[in-house]
Amino acid sequence: MQKRFINAFLASIEIEAMDFYIADSSYFKMRIKEVYGRKIEDSRKERTIEIFIKTETGVYSASSPSGKSKGRNEAPSFIRDIDLDMQMLKDLKMDFSIDCFEDLEKVEKIVKGKIGANSIFALESAILKARAFERKKEIWELVNEKARKLPHPVGNCIGGGMHTPLFNGKKPDFQEFLVIPKARKFIDSVFLMKKMQENAGKSLKIKRALGRLNDENAWATSLENEQVLNVMNNERDKLEAESSEKIEIGIDAASSSFYTGLYNYKNPRKCLTADKQTDYMQELTENYDIYYLEDPMQEEDFSGFAKLREGVKGRCLIVGDDLITSNVERFLKAVYANSISAVILKPNQCGSLIGIKKIVQYAKKYDIATIMSHRSGETNESIIADLAFGFSCDFIKTGIIGKEREAKLSRMIEIEREMS
Ligand code: PGA
Ligand code: ZN
Repeated sequence: MQKRFINAFLASIEIEAMDFYIADSSYFKMRIKEVYGRKIEDSRKERTIEIFIKTETGVYSASSPSGKSKGRNEAPSFIRDIDLDMQMLKDLKMDFSIDCFEDLEKVEKIVKGKIGANSIFALESAILKARAFERKKEIWELVNEKARKLPHPVGNCIGGGMHTPLFNGKKPDFQEFLVIPKARKFIDSVFLMKKMQENAGKSLKIKRALGRLNDENAWATSLENEQVLNVMNNERDKLEAESSEKIEIGIDAASSSFYTGLYNYKNPRKCLTADKQTDYMQELTENYDIYYLEDPMQEEDFSGFAKLREGVKGRCLIVGDDLITSNVERFLKAVYANSISAVILKPNQCGSLIGIKKIVQYAKKYDIATIMSHRSGETNESIIADLAFGFSCDFIKTGIIGKEREAKLSRMIEIEREMS
């Protein structure tokens, strides 16, 4: 009798313990049972990859964007092509468990050399989504649950370069003319970005220089580089006065795209040596009150970047995108050469979220600002908002309009709402 009672008592404890175990699944480490990919279209109607993972709790997916004005030192997007990556994914043996962000290191060891950077980013994103769901956390909490700082948005209003069609046979050489509102609330900065793009469009229309939207949904125009800077500067001043908020402007020159041994400008035509290019860039920052200058020099010119950084004396961020390609070694080289004061982070440039984390840690140590960034060919994936918040990035560059760009902005606004 007593023995039966004890057995029943033990059984009830076991059931209670099991209930507790199931209710809080963070006690389980996650196992990936299956991985597969499919081809999807990005915003440019080009092929990219969406990856699915199956765990004990369900199926989770994430997709990767794709770049067009890529840095020469980026990791390959696919190992040979998207089909081979999809084949390789099916054969991956993930016989280990995953609990936290750092466990992505195990994933990277397995996939290195088997799939490209686009696929690794999508796979790691799907894994973070699954783990966040299973631990009842937000994705950013897996990166850093103490994160509290919202980044400032960086939005592309008017475009040129590789992302933009000609309008009346012309386009600016610089790839992006950017607005960076610094309102206290992210949602207010998003409103100001939209307003700025709308006003810039009206101003181009009055000048009969308004083309259609480009790859990133920025305005195409026939205006010359400095004429566009004039529009941006004027519109910024007006909006700043109207809103009483601080609003900065910037350029992504993407200068490797018009460098052929010399800087070969088409609109207007001129040809500059590296020395003249640094002088010209510095002059632009002064004449148009530019706060942000991305890739002002070609992607191998660490010393040209350094000269410019010294010249602008902290008034303007000198930002490395193609120069760094989200590569830790190139980032450290730039830090030691004093080349940059800010770095672009594009996880599919290097195919390693662990690598991105290392750059963020070094950036904080060496006082370099961080900018989490989209690519020109985007998907509806919003995970870079979680990553930007989790890594406490200073900025997030997402573009302004279009569902792919707005997916990231909406997610950031959601995070801001949850935090307040
Ligand atoms: P990409 O360009 O995504 O086409 O490489 C974006 C950028 O240069 O910032
Ligand atoms: Zn860039």
